[in-house]
Amino acid sequence: MKIGIDKIGFYTPHLYVDMNKLAVSRNVEPEKFTIGIGQSKMAIPPISQDPVTLAANAALEILDNEDKEKIDFVIFGTESGIDNSKSAGVYVHRLLGLNPHARAVEVKQACYGATAGIQMAKGHIALNPDSKVLVLGSDIARYGLNTSGEATQGAGAVALLISAEPRIMELEENNVYLTDDIMDFWRPIYSDKAFVDGKFSNEQYILFFEKVWEQYKAKTDLSLKDFEAICFHLPYTKMGLKALRAVLDEAEEEDKERLLANFEISRKYNRNVGNIYTGSLYLSLLSLLEQKDDLQSGAKIGLFSYGSGAVGEFFTGILQPNYREHLHIAEHTQLFAARKEVTVAEYEEIFQETLPIDGSTLELDVTNDPATICLAGMKDNMRQYVNKED
Ligand code: HMG
Repeated sequence: MKIGIDKIGFYTPHLYVDMNKLAVSRNVEPEKFTIGIGQSKMAIPPISQDPVTLAANAALEILDNEDKEKIDFVIFGTESGIDNSKSAGVYVHRLLGLNPHARAVEVKQACYGATAGIQMAKGHIALNPDSKVLVLGSDIARYGLNTSGEATQGAGAVALLISAEPRIMELEENNVYLTDDIMDFWRPIYSDKAFVDGKFSNEQYILFFEKVWEQYKAKTDLSLKDFEAICFHLPYTKMGLKALRAVLDEAEEEDKERLLANFEISRKYNRNVGNIYTGSLYLSLLSLLEQKDDLQSGAKIGLFSYGSGAVGEFFTGILQPNYREHLHIAEHTQLFAARKEVTVAEYEEIFQETLPIDGSTLELDVTNDPATICLAGMKDNMRQYVNKED
């Protein structure tokens, strides 16, 4: 039985800041952000969007009534969750109107959470072939104004429907993974911003990739020529390029060219959104599948997941016949086209808006937020969500 990705949904907030303008305001050369970091636009979440609403909006576009009935497991990968006890998956389960006889949990290991969710989902489907699992990767990346990480912030979510006989990508076996207790990036419970040792995190990301790639080759006897493309977790898009370059010397010229050309396509969406942590790898996969129209079914795609702290995993998928028919290309083109630019000053103001933490009531105006599912306010320390279609 094949198990893999049957549908992929994506959502990013409707606001963005232009990286050229952010660079000017931070007194750095724009090319540092657009080439050195590899980012063009950074998604800005309004206060009416949080990781729950981003994930719910991403899932909303892909689920039909049959999916809603068959999903019996919601796995929410996030590292910017809204509650230290209740899982974000439970909120999404209700907002989407899923079958009550389902499990809903949250999984955390930095940007690796959704990958862990996918692997758990595979096991669940192997035991329950008729069921479907909704895996969510949703985050808001915050380092702070005027920090070196600022240019690598972002916001968005990816929703993956995992099932038997998937229509987009079969996920193969032979995964290789690695854990090492390091402090490259972390966020203590009392902080809403991440702490990071930037240079060390870059080195570790590449080292993890090299190690799992070596292990994968030893396990499978495969090499770069067997891959149509390799997608990476993209904290900023230059990071994936650095990791790819670290192994490219092993490849023949034509394989090198193909992998580099496909990498460019796989970073298009991420370049315009920023880091979405758990969803970043899958946003890159989506970018490749939706923006390259001549990928053949049967092609093998490599996927490198990295979550600081750190856990890395390399695994592979095979594109299924007619997979393009099951993508949501028009919706995503429209989502990007409808976004609105904010100035750096407006972004800074939005960044500093906070929700009450003293139990007081706040009602948010959601009329300016085009998202279907929004955070409408706070009451008695509880977030109040609204699905405008209900
Ligand atoms: P920085 O110190 O501001 O930048 O930090 P830099 O001085 O290293 O410059 C960045 C690049 O721009 C360099 O390229 C420069 O040469 C280039 P490189 O040498 O590295 O290839 N540059 C220029 N290029 C063209 N024209 C110019 C120009 N000027 C400079 N004029 C850093 C950058 C990424 C460290 C910082 O933004 C940061 O700390 N970000 C957050 C951490 C991060 O993203 N780490 C990535 C690996 S860890 C990871 O992926 C996990 C994560 O997603 C979290 C999780 O798992 O939950 C972060």
